[in-house]
Amino acid sequence: MTKTSTRRGFMKGGLTAGAALATAGLVAPARAGGDPAITEIQDWNRYSGAGVDASPYGKPSDFEAHVMRRNVAWLTADPVSSVNFTPLHELDGIITPNGLCFERHHAGVAEVDPQQHRLMINGLVDTPLVFTMADLMRFPRENHIYFLECAANSGMEWRGAQLNGCQYTHGMVHCVMYTGVKLKHLLAEAGVKTAGKWVMPEGADASAMTRSIPLEKAMEDCLVAFKMNGEALRPEQGYPLRLVVPGWEGNMWVKWLRRLEVGDEPWHAREETSKYTDLLANGKARRFTWVMDVKSVITSPSPQMPITHGKGRTVLTGLAWSGAGKISRVDVSLDGGRNWVTARLDGPSLTKALHRFYHEFDWDGSELFLQSRAIDEAGFVQPTKQELRAVRGANSIYHNNGIQTWHVAKDGVVENVEIS
Ligand code: MTE
Ligand code: CO
Repeated sequence: MTKTSTRRGFMKGGLTAGAALATAGLVAPARAGGDPAITEIQDWNRYSGAGVDASPYGKPSDFEAHVMRRNVAWLTADPVSSVNFTPLHELDGIITPNGLCFERHHAGVAEVDPQQHRLMINGLVDTPLVFTMADLMRFPRENHIYFLECAANSGMEWRGAQLNGCQYTHGMVHCVMYTGVKLKHLLAEAGVKTAGKWVMPEGADASAMTRSIPLEKAMEDCLVAFKMNGEALRPEQGYPLRLVVPGWEGNMWVKWLRRLEVGDEPWHAREETSKYTDLLANGKARRFTWVMDVKSVITSPSPQMPITHGKGRTVLTGLAWSGAGKISRVDVSLDGGRNWVTARLDGPSLTKALHRFYHEFDWDGSELFLQSRAIDEAGFVQPTKQELRAVRGANSIYHNNGIQTWHVAKDGVVENVEIS
């Protein structure tokens, strides 16, 4: 008890300093003195905790149990060919934790035994080859941080504001460090014939996902990856092997990769004809729209992250990315695009990876229309939704990189709206 009273005495002494901070307009600290959370000893401060092996494979605190992937049940007919969403609003920095990477499966998660898994290279090659996982481990490895965005990310927002939260409007993106072998080394091993111009990856899942990738891209920066964030790929992300196609639409990043065929022309697979093509207003469709355009979103404040502290110092943060390279600038508007300020980019700036931005401001308690606009190193500027529709119409569900607006009401509640 003496200890507690000593602490109480100390906190009383600290009151003046706290009050001074508040009047200086900085973060208003808790009024010291009366808060039992600091004056009383808590159980965790009194008793020893669980020992080292309580959780041999660690997991987040139980208090973080709400931070999880979530789906929107009505979007798809069943969960096997479906999608769930990364909780972007709860994350910081640029790396997505493995257990929170959104999932998109066309035929559920294949449970592949790595001992039985093989990667075949066939088609227009000098020597068709079949690699075991152990064979692949003998090629030089590289580590790269890349975002993966599904072409259908923000697809539900094409015709107007619909889903209330950046988890749902923008959560079909994740960014991890991959460890893998450059595809060009494997293709060189098989020897691509002069006529070989395209590569078709095929998945070992029941959807047998196939896409056509031009040889130049395959030779440039594609990886055959077996690790994410240092550990084995998760089953959901294609364990034991997936293709990484930096900056290009997620659909091409074939999971559970079992075969690479080299050909002289594209295969016109289902996923590049009936799906993953962009129907324009004139009834024609854009095809082979591989690169993911420059895009950004404010992750907090956002509908799942309202402002709960009232007026005063507020931290706005978000993510920006581009399939064309690095992000060079992010602008932020608090008034629906009338006035813009340059946000502060923080953390690593890596090509074809997520970039983190912040903008600290003093909220006067009036309503806000928050927007962010990213510009990439190739000079592409993120368009408004109106600008995008003027060019693409509203038929498509893919490649929506329009500027997102969040309305902040006077009580701090945030909603998905569209104003430009
Ligand atoms: N690969 C296979 N074999 N099967 C699939 O269903 N889905 C694709 C792609 N690769 C898919 C696949 C789609 S549409 C996307 S957006 C990404 O994987 C999703 O990757 P993720 O589940 O790791 O987020
Ligand atoms: Co996809």
